[in-house]
Amino acid sequence: MIIGNIKIKGHAALAPMAGVTDNAFRELCMQFGAGFCISEMISAKAISFNNQKTIALMNIYNTERPCAIQLFGSEPEILAEAARFSLQFNPLFIDINMGCPAPKVFNNGCGSALMKTPYLCGKIVHAVSKAVNIPVTVKIRSGVDEANKNAVEVAAVCEENGAKAVTVHGRTREQYYSGQADARIIKDVKRALTIPVIANGDIVTPEDGVRMYEQTGCDYIMIGRGSLGNPWVFEQINSYFENGSYNSDIPLKQRLDVMKRHAFLVVEKKGENLGMREFRKHAAYYLKGFKNAAKLRNHAFSLSTLDDLDKMISLAENSQ
Ligand SMILES: Cc1cc2nc3c(=O)[nH]c(=O)nc-3n(C[C@H](O)[C@H](O)[C@H](O)COP(=O)(O)O)c2cc1C
Repeated sequence: MIIGNIKIKGHAALAPMAGVTDNAFRELCMQFGAGFCISEMISAKAISFNNQKTIALMNIYNTERPCAIQLFGSEPEILAEAARFSLQFNPLFIDINMGCPAPKVFNNGCGSALMKTPYLCGKIVHAVSKAVNIPVTVKIRSGVDEANKNAVEVAAVCEENGAKAVTVHGRTREQYYSGQADARIIKDVKRALTIPVIANGDIVTPEDGVRMYEQTGCDYIMIGRGSLGNPWVFEQINSYFENGSYNSDIPLKQRLDVMKRHAFLVVEKKGENLGMREFRKHAAYYLKGFKNAAKLRNHAFSLSTLDDLDKMISLAENSQ
């Protein structure tokens, strides 16, 4: 896939996930062969207020490149200014969030609420594209609700205004994360556009990935929740595409080793105190499918130090 003039390798990208795809997780997924990754969504307004915590979210280490920055907001000029500001972090491209369903985002007219006004989506893409010399992309849903599935219209307006790729999550805002992602609407978007279309929603296995490519004709796929506690999904997908087979059976020891490597990356970036608290949710995902998972998860949710993690790993090894 080529976004603007940037050639993207591999077959699947890591989706942006607030509170999840921090520097550590992005680095880990890139090590496992994600084609590119995207920051957590970042408030353009908070950037305009010089909020240091928000600005820190823009940092990209070389070990996680190629990495894009995702912005959310509703005012074209504020988004354009935030995009300009973000250039100092050297992102691969700027992605505009037009899909977030969360009330505090939606009720402010941001995220998926933008899909209610395609004209504004166009103005935003136009303003941001003019502000930066790197590609601008958008990430949308199928629509706001069942009666308003206007992804094709929004995507087309974005393309007309300079978007260089569109990611479509095949669910409405109303669906949040329930029900099934609709591949049909992604196919419709792909047919209507000339820029690359990235398909997203419910891809967990390499077979899901192939199905998504086949059903939609998309140019690339993006994986969110399927990577949680499962970063090797990218390696599996690459292997499936390149060799027709993949290793589906990740040995227990490898799962625990990767979990530990992930924890080290988090601690390296955030310190042990904050890092291990933030790592708790990731640890719980790695333990999925383990014998004694409920008990292990209780341990995961009380992790405070790397020592605690070692104890939990011993317990996991001994209880299988
Ligand atoms: C915890 C969580 C946080 C998310 N945060 C973002 C975000 O910051 N920006 C965004 O565009 N999408 C966000 N999403 C949506 C995902 O990028 C993706 O579109 C959605 O989860 C569907 O893909 P999946 O089925 O592969 O998870 C988030 C999803 C989850 C579960």
